[in-house]
Amino acid sequence: MADLEKEIKRRRTFAIISHPDAGKTTLTEKFLLYGGAINLAGSVKGKATARHAVSDWMEIEKERGISVTSSVLQFEYQDYCINILDTPGHQDFSEDTYRTLMAADSAVMVIDASKGVEAQTRKLFKVCVMRKIPIFTFINKLDRDANDTFELLDDIEKELGIATCPVNWPIGSGKSFRGVYDRNLKSVITYSDTEKGTKEGKSEKIDFNNLDMMKEKLGSEAYSKLCEEIELLEGAGADFSQEEVDKGNLTPVFFGSALTNFGVEMFLKYFLDMTMPPLARNSDNGIIDPFKNDFSAFVFKIQANMNKAHRDRVAFMRICSGKYEASMEVKHVQGNKVMRLSQPQQMMASDRHVVEEAYAGDIIGVFDPGIFSIGDTLCSVKDEFRFEGIPTFAPEHFARVRQVDTMKRKQFVKGITQIAQEGAIQIFQEFNTGLEEIIVGVVGVLQFEVLKYRLENEYNVDIRLENLPYEYIRWIDNKDEIDIEKLTGTSDMKKIKDLKGNPLLLFINSWSVGMTLERNEGLKLAEFGRN
Ligand code: G4P
Repeated sequence: MADLEKEIKRRRTFAIISHPDAGKTTLTEKFLLYGGAINLAGSVKGKATARHAVSDWMEIEKERGISVTSSVLQFEYQDYCINILDTPGHQDFSEDTYRTLMAADSAVMVIDASKGVEAQTRKLFKVCVMRKIPIFTFINKLDRDANDTFELLDDIEKELGIATCPVNWPIGSGKSFRGVYDRNLKSVITYSDTEKGTKEGKSEKIDFNNLDMMKEKLGSEAYSKLCEEIELLEGAGADFSQEEVDKGNLTPVFFGSALTNFGVEMFLKYFLDMTMPPLARNSDNGIIDPFKNDFSAFVFKIQANMNKAHRDRVAFMRICSGKYEASMEVKHVQGNKVMRLSQPQQMMASDRHVVEEAYAGDIIGVFDPGIFSIGDTLCSVKDEFRFEGIPTFAPEHFARVRQVDTMKRKQFVKGITQIAQEGAIQIFQEFNTGLEEIIVGVVGVLQFEVLKYRLENEYNVDIRLENLPYEYIRWIDNKDEIDIEKLTGTSDMKKIKDLKGNPLLLFINSWSVGMTLERNEGLKLAEFGRN
């Protein structure tokens, strides 16, 4: 029992979010380097290595050189056991990216110092807010010319509506980048770009009160600017409060340069200290304590055909309480079945291996013969509860799909429903007809290609996709109180339904969403679908 508690306590499970090219992959690589999980040679090969090492299971991924699916990495650093949930770096990300955040206990937001908050970060941030998880900010690429530091913080506060608390403060940027001031230690850590790819830094730590050294190392101009900025900051900035961080109201902010490996270990240390061990989760039987003895987990992602030879699926689950042991029996609540999880796997840096044991906070991938759905609960045989469902995230691109050969109707419907069940796409029907017209909604347009590719390759069905102009989908929260037939929307509004018959509305622009709400008193629309 003592062991169980110790193991769970040392776990940290977080997702890294960013807009493509902000430096998420580079930062992850450096984390792995500190954890000793990858060697130096591997690390300097760059992102191509990192991405392909973790998930080159799909042809389309290799062809385009991008990561279609999110991946999970585990490594040890000091006494911590860290699980990083990576989210696809390409702008064509999918619903999986959102769902990954459901499995994390906190998020690290990487921002490019010359760009500020960008579109993809904004989207992913919304999900973090919905979950109220702590968010940590790493402002990257200080070795390049950066925006004004106060402006960067202002941008985060205004764009995302979260208070910021800088833990360190950059001294210059680009060619005049001198290092960071650690507000906690009241010291300056000098920048040295010789750290690139190595663990041994050449940085020096200088006490802020050591005036001569400060001036010598920073130059008097940079030193006076720093003094001014610190004074301003002490007067204006939010104070650090662990409680506010835990609630997701305040984000600790760090500055650094992932590429030159500056500020990364400093960030990791503070982050691990400020972030929490596995959090308790809600279920229909109350809150499930992660430290309780009995195993429980939920499925947050299903990935098809990782091994082409076997045509299998892998269900990724987040362990929420207790310990998983090889060959142990568990209950699949939604399937009402007692079963053994088969060949559970875990990713250790770049290797996939079979796990003998895993603890709350860990992610395991198990072989799925087609029985699991996103959001399913697994628990110990004597228990019976369901974890709170995973919301359905709003697709932003829609297309009508038809199979080219009408004789292949059966394969087409089977294929498209299976792919929808894995959660890569969402399928809808016209409101007043059946499945003869299928409308597909996706979060990133790449999923259309994935769908076409998979239907051709796995189900032998050619399809034609006709893009639709809609960009906004809304679930009707109070569908039982509203007469859908009588709903009066704007001329661009379209009524559709999901496979369970739930009504939804499609709109071309956000203005129409507002108009429709105005025209229909009492109508409640939601951006997330509840299962
Ligand atoms: P992502 O996963 O968020 O998409 O970003 P990634 O780490 O792949 O980084 C995007 C580009 O930014 C890469 O350059 C990377 O080397 C560079 N980069 C990351 N961190 C820093 C930093 O701190 N400073 C500077 N100057 N550059 C940084 P690339 O040329 O697109 O790729 P590569 O050929 O270097 O791999």
